Amino acid sequence: MKAAVMRANNAPLEIEDLEIDDPAPGEVLVKTAASGICHSDLTVIEGGLPMPPPCVLGHEPAGIVEAVGEGVTDFSPGDHVIGCITSWCGVCKFCTGGRPYLCPTQFAGRSGELKSRLSTKGGDPIFQFANLSSFAEKMLSPERSLVKIRDDMPLDRASLIGCGVTTGLGAALNTVNIPAGASVVILGLGGVGLSALQGARIVGAGKIIAIDAQPWKFSLAQNLGATDCINAKEGDPIAAVQELTGGGADFVFECIGLVPTVQQAVAMTGRGGTTVLVGVVPMSELVPISASDLTLQEKKITGSYMGSNRFRFDMPKYIDFYLDGRLHLDEMISSRIKLEEVNDGFDLMRKGEVARQVIVFD
Ligand SMILES: NC(=O)c1ccc[n+]([C@@H]2O[C@H](COP(=O)([O-])OP(=O)(O)OC[C@H]3O[C@@H](n4cnc5c(N)ncnc54)[C@H](O)[C@@H]3O)[C@@H](O)[C@H]2O)c1
Ligand SMILES: [Zn+2]
Ligand SMILES: [Zn+2]
Repeated sequence: MKAAVMRANNAPLEIEDLEIDDPAPGEVLVKTAASGICHSDLTVIEGGLPMPPPCVLGHEPAGIVEAVGEGVTDFSPGDHVIGCITSWCGVCKFCTGGRPYLCPTQFAGRSGELKSRLSTKGGDPIFQFANLSSFAEKMLSPERSLVKIRDDMPLDRASLIGCGVTTGLGAALNTVNIPAGASVVILGLGGVGLSALQGARIVGAGKIIAIDAQPWKFSLAQNLGATDCINAKEGDPIAAVQELTGGGADFVFECIGLVPTVQQAVAMTGRGGTTVLVGVVPMSELVPISASDLTLQEKKITGSYMGSNRFRFDMPKYIDFYLDGRLHLDEMISSRIKLEEVNDGFDLMRKGEVARQVIVFD
């Protein structure tokens, strides 16, 4: 099967013909229909999230089940599915405590006795990213990395729910409680930020202020529910937010993942407000923050991982939102591309020229 392989950091992915194993007990073989390109894939390529090459990236997929391993009862061939990186074990304190997205086993992969799920034609193992590796014609995943979805949901739009939509929408719906009428800032209007923006709209936020360095994104943000837009490259975006909100916003979602924008997000948060860190800052970097600002103004900062999801519960709901017209996904897809165009896709993402790009397979 054809796959895009990361052979080294900061180098173009290479299209190669790989072997994929048969499903072991508890595993499912999926024919990939579509895979969104998420900034976290780019962060891995750039070394900000360490993953060992050779590795197949891609973690925002939808597809159709081709075969199931022994003991798999939740899926049958022909089922339409979405894959999610937050695989869960079902028995640890996080799973049983209602926060399965924090399950520490999620990146465990196959046990030692089994061969690698992915390998070269010559038999050399290839690292699988997050039990998915969706920049490939097929995926071999634990059943607990997948959720079955309605057959009438188009798979290209379903793929967005695999990461970006679940992350952004879930940050607004699950990680924090946004009261109706609260003021919200969305910092960064990629697939993740535009989904957080829609979450703010769905819960009935008051002002929804969208900020990006690419002003072409503002008409899209307004169509999706933004009440105000700020060009981060013109003037001081912190002062602009303070002016619009009378001193700072109730909730600020940082959806970029850079040190200066995390600092801006905290500064834009008003007294008693909450900063939600959704963007992933490269692991090697630290962010200086004024602690007294937090104490004296009782600001809160929280991280939000994968939209604090319970994806078997959340994703079918998000699909209903889409099919009912409450969640807009068509507008978020800037282009549908072929696997061979994946490196061009990353170039466009680096330049901020796209909202979401989806790799579509035949
Ligand atoms: N928390 C999680 O579980 C989780 C999951 C998925 C992705 N992420 C992270 O979320 C972030 C966003 O992902 P994405 O796929 O939407 O990215 P993206 O590249 O599509 O979007 C980022 C946006 O930020 C804008 N931007 C960049 N620098 C800016 C600046 N200085 N000021 C204002 N705007 C600026 C870009 O123009 C772009 O619109 C990334 O850090 C990604 O790794 C986190
Ligand atoms: Zn992602
Ligand atoms: Zn667990």
